[in-house]
Amino acid sequence: MFLFTPYPIISTLFLALSFSVSNAQLNATFYANSCPNVSAIVRNVVQQSLQSDSRIGASLIRLHFHDCFVNGCDGSILLDNSGSIQSEKDAAPNTNSTRGFDVVDNIKTSVENSCPGVVSCADILALAAESSVSLTGGPSWNVLLGRRDSLIANQSGANTSIPSPFEGLANITAKFSAVGLNTTDLVALSGAHTFGRAQCRTFVNRLFNFSGTGSPDPTLNSSYLTTLQQICPQNGSGTALANLDLTTPDTFDNNYFTNLQSNQGLLQSDQELFSTSGSATVSIVNSFSSNQTAFFQNFAQSMINMGNISPLTGSIGEIRLDCKKVNGQGLEIISMYDLSRNKNILASY
Ligand code: HEM
Ligand SMILES: *[C@@H]1O[C@H](CO)[C@@H](O)[C@H](O)[C@H]1NC(C)=O
Ligand SMILES: *[C@@H]1O[C@H](CO)[C@@H](O)[C@H](O)[C@H]1NC(C)=O
Ligand SMILES: *[C@@H]1O[C@H](CO)[C@@H](O)[C@H](O)[C@H]1NC(C)=O
Ligand SMILES: *[C@@H]1O[C@H](CO)[C@@H](O)[C@H](O)[C@H]1NC(C)=O
Ligand SMILES: *[C@@H]1O[C@H](CO)[C@@H](O)[C@H](O)[C@H]1NC(C)=O
Ligand SMILES: *[C@@H]1O[C@H](CO)[C@@H](O)[C@H](O)[C@H]1NC(C)=O
Ligand SMILES: *[C@@H]1O[C@H](CO)[C@@H](O)[C@H](O)[C@H]1NC(C)=O
Ligand SMILES: *[C@@H]1O[C@H](CO)[C@@H](O)[C@H](O)[C@H]1NC(C)=O
Ligand SMILES: *[C@@H]1O[C@H](CO)[C@@H](O)[C@H](O)[C@H]1NC(C)=O
Ligand SMILES: *[C@@H]1O[C@H](CO)[C@@H](O)[C@H](O)[C@H]1NC(C)=O
Ligand SMILES: *[C@@H]1O[C@H](CO)[C@@H](O)[C@H](O)[C@H]1NC(C)=O
Repeated sequence: MFLFTPYPIISTLFLALSFSVSNAQLNATFYANSCPNVSAIVRNVVQQSLQSDSRIGASLIRLHFHDCFVNGCDGSILLDNSGSIQSEKDAAPNTNSTRGFDVVDNIKTSVENSCPGVVSCADILALAAESSVSLTGGPSWNVLLGRRDSLIANQSGANTSIPSPFEGLANITAKFSAVGLNTTDLVALSGAHTFGRAQCRTFVNRLFNFSGTGSPDPTLNSSYLTTLQQICPQNGSGTALANLDLTTPDTFDNNYFTNLQSNQGLLQSDQELFSTSGSATVSIVNSFSSNQTAFFQNFAQSMINMGNISPLTGSIGEIRLDCKKVNGQGLEIISMYDLSRNKNILASY
């Protein structure tokens, strides 16, 4: 058997290639010279926005999550439909659900005013997520930076890679694992449901006829069930809103976990972290419920882990000037025949 003949050469080449690609690591000082005040600029706009919309912090961190789970943290979720781009905004987990795009544009404008063409939209999402948490009572952390923006969107990827509230814990765990996040990350990051809202259509399946049983989800706390049935009538439109954390809806704290212990998790996917007997998630929920410091430390680390999912670095991708479109769009010069003037003209589209 001479199995080893050409293999070491190929494997050495492959290692060299993959090393040069994963070489550029994110770091906290990426903009230290090119945009030293970027964190304060982002934080300032988030703070202003929170004054008129107490929900916006929740909406902004969710954008970073939905960005990172699709082709990595590359700003792909921000691209609008255009040409070959099928926007991720129209994917099932995002449509009529994700919000805060206007605030991202305001942040981008403010950042561009200080440091034109320097800071990526993907990094803006990571910074806005940190500001959203720290401004609402949660932990602060040093955001790692240096991501670049994608040239493409991946709508089918958004349809399939972002976890759904209706799928079981095993499936959700698998989706986290697929992007390198483990069970501690899953429980800690689910703690982001300590603020923000969910529409009835994301949990009404639990309230009247759960899994075809003719009865509500038996794990739902009965007084909480009554409250939710009032917010979400059986044949309602499904767009009414409930707080993800019934106790402190706009504050980043560990009450999400105490809610799970009293069977007051809103989404099926929330409650399963505590109610799936034998699951490794149960003891983590208990630990975060009894110790907010432990939750905050783990949350910050898991946000860094999530922010590290497959970033574009070095010279891959670009720094978008407008987060909604790839650069160059609207600047393409084409020659076309103008019938009314009976001559060729140059036009941009
Ligand atoms: C574990 C799997 C997860 C599932 C199944 C899930 C599902 C959902 C659903 C269904 C909603 C309500 C959307 C709507 O009704 O429009 C929601 C909202 C939210 N999610 Fe998650 N999520 C998960 C993980 C995460 C993670 C990892 C984060 C961030 C780190 C996050 C942050 C949020 C926030 C803050 C909101 C409220 C947004 C707002 O009020 O605008 N979620 N999530
Ligand atoms: C941060 O990353 C950039 C790009 O990879 C690099 O040029 C810079 O030296 C790094 N800074 C530190 C402190 O590692
Ligand atoms: C940094 O940005 C903040 C928010 O926009 C502003 O208040 C502060 O004056 C800026 N600091 C510097 C040194 O530019
Ligand atoms: C989104 O909301 C609009 C307006 O409420 C509605 O017409 C449309 O059908 C909704 N789309 C989806 C996919 O739910
Ligand atoms: C993604 O899901 C949405 C909503 O279900 C659907 O309209 C769209 O066609 C899907 N896109 C792709 C590329 O699969
Ligand atoms: C889109 O996302 C899916 C699932 O994450 C992935 O398998 C696929 O390679 C992605 N497509 C592109 C063009 O990046
Ligand atoms: C969970 O994953 C399995 C295997 O991929 C799949 O057959 C099943 O439909 C998924 N369940 C849900 C609720 O998505
Ligand atoms: C998940 O990974 C972290 C490192 O980021 C580690 O400390 C933790 O123990 C891991 N959790 C599990 C359940 O493996
Ligand atoms: C509950 O749903 C199942 C399956 O969809 C259906 O057969 C049954 O009639 C429903 N029960 C009630 C009480 O609505
Ligand atoms: C909801 O609609 C179904 C048929 O679509 C009907 O049988 C049922 O009585 C309605 N329930 C309520 C509470 O209105
Ligand atoms: C239901 O919630 C109440 C608080 O509203 C709590 O006191 C009670 O213990 C909970 N019941 C269960 C079975 O978890
Ligand atoms: C809470 O967690 C922190 C951080 O992990 C730890 O240092 C501290 O000892 C814990 N406190 C208690 C009372 O267990």
